[in-house]
Amino acid sequence: MSDIWKSLKACRAAQADTRIEALFAADPDRATGFTTRADGLVFDWSKTMIDTAARDLLLDLAREAGVEARREAMFAGEKINETEGRAVLHTALRNLDGSVVVDGQDVMSEVRAIHERMSDFARSVRDGRFAGAGGAITDVVNIGIGGSDLGPAMAALALAPYHDGPRTHFVSNVDGADIADTLKGLDAGTTLVIVASKTFTTIETMTNAQTARDWMAASVADPAAQFVALSSDVGKTGDFGIDQTRVFGFEDWVGGRYSVWGPIGLSLMLAVGPEAFDRFLAGAASMDSHFRSAPLAENLPVLLALTGIWHHQICGYPTRAVLPYDNRLMRLPAYLQQLEMESNGKRVAMDGRDLRVASGPVVWGEPGTNGQHAFYQLIHQGTMPVPCEFILAARGHEPDLAHHHILLAANCLAQSEALMRGRSLNEARALMRAKGLEAPEMDRQARHRVFPGNRPSTTLLIDQLTPFALGQILALYEHRVFVEGVILGINSFDQWGVELGKELALKVEPLLKGEASAGHDASTLQLASLIRALRG
Ligand code: F6P
Repeated sequence: MSDIWKSLKACRAAQADTRIEALFAADPDRATGFTTRADGLVFDWSKTMIDTAARDLLLDLAREAGVEARREAMFAGEKINETEGRAVLHTALRNLDGSVVVDGQDVMSEVRAIHERMSDFARSVRDGRFAGAGGAITDVVNIGIGGSDLGPAMAALALAPYHDGPRTHFVSNVDGADIADTLKGLDAGTTLVIVASKTFTTIETMTNAQTARDWMAASVADPAAQFVALSSDVGKTGDFGIDQTRVFGFEDWVGGRYSVWGPIGLSLMLAVGPEAFDRFLAGAASMDSHFRSAPLAENLPVLLALTGIWHHQICGYPTRAVLPYDNRLMRLPAYLQQLEMESNGKRVAMDGRDLRVASGPVVWGEPGTNGQHAFYQLIHQGTMPVPCEFILAARGHEPDLAHHHILLAANCLAQSEALMRGRSLNEARALMRAKGLEAPEMDRQARHRVFPGNRPSTTLLIDQLTPFALGQILALYEHRVFVEGVILGINSFDQWGVELGKELALKVEPLLKGEASAGHDASTLQLASLIRALRG
């Protein structure tokens, strides 16, 4: 652990009795000084215990870790995903005018060509030139899981006000309930099925794709004609019988959880149209250029990352909550769970040694105000502080319902204020007294009504949830994960931790079918035999 880590820990220890409110009292400019703006986004990180000393140390930490050089290496197409020997270039998918060289070849002409083919195909579906056996496409079913599902599923919901194409549905779970519930009520003749899988081997996706194909074959003469494939293994898509004109490929330097910007975003493009999709890309590209060029002290992804490092690795808070006060960002916490936890949930550093600090935190959340009536009790009064990341748009998309939006925003601001301020014992007693409670009852209840406060939060404020703004937000979080990963010294772009369970599932499957399979523990054997008995 370097001296900077030690100084940060010491800085935190010295704060033991200080409150966030005291930082505001000591510095009348704290709100503006700890608010960073980029391209219309406003990031207020003043309601944290990061003071100027901690901020400077955190920036030193980023410098010491080589964030700037690593950032340049990523954008330049160097193979920074060292355990898989790959470049990391999801940024190239949204920088369509740029030029990036990998292994001596400019990869951008291929990126542009695929983007153009996707746009042409989306236009032909949306205007009815591409039709199913029963006529114009009314429904699109995206079959994929993880990064091949969460990005487009989250973004299609987020951009509902821009949705003017066919209805979109997302099937991910191998639980047959998912595909059964989705296909129920759809007309196979007017449905387009997208099989989205980077590897085109993922068991959940392949099983669902086969089921969809059987469903389609029951009423459509040429079911394969209504299938599309998105994959970086174009060869395997041919084995599934999908015509190459409807196969959209991408390179292995696009990680699954970073893939919504390219072919994996096709369902989103079909929903909102190529023009809105391009604005989504432009928002991400604008965040890319901010991230690439802004000094660390004014760099939004860097500062978001540093608040994360401060809260998790320095303060020791085990989780962080992402709380979008935007119902259409309902799936954002799930999307960020994969982005952050699959990227930085690792215990071995890039150099093969054990991490000497905690890996990335547990990320969770729900939209406000719903979460307030579910888990905020714990956030306010539980024993473990949960740093909260609020996200709010100043304007909704429903001008007739502006009063709803004002209430929504008021709740968001009130929560961050309440978390910081809390309510003292005296304040709780005064409130009860005002309500006419007698002394013995007041004594009995007072401590239950105390809020410790001093609970940190940040607020990301945008103007409105447009395609451009959504692109900015997602790129902001992608780069935040990258910066945290560099500071921790880990490779944020592999995901070996998902392999073991997948491999064992293949070995457990025979047990459930009553076939022999060696090497299982007594509990697993017992559960498998109980399931077999119950199934009869
Ligand atoms: O769960 C592991 C994972 O490899 C994710 O990283 C990925 O997004 C998901 O599975 C789906 O993979 P694929 O797109 O290859 O089907």
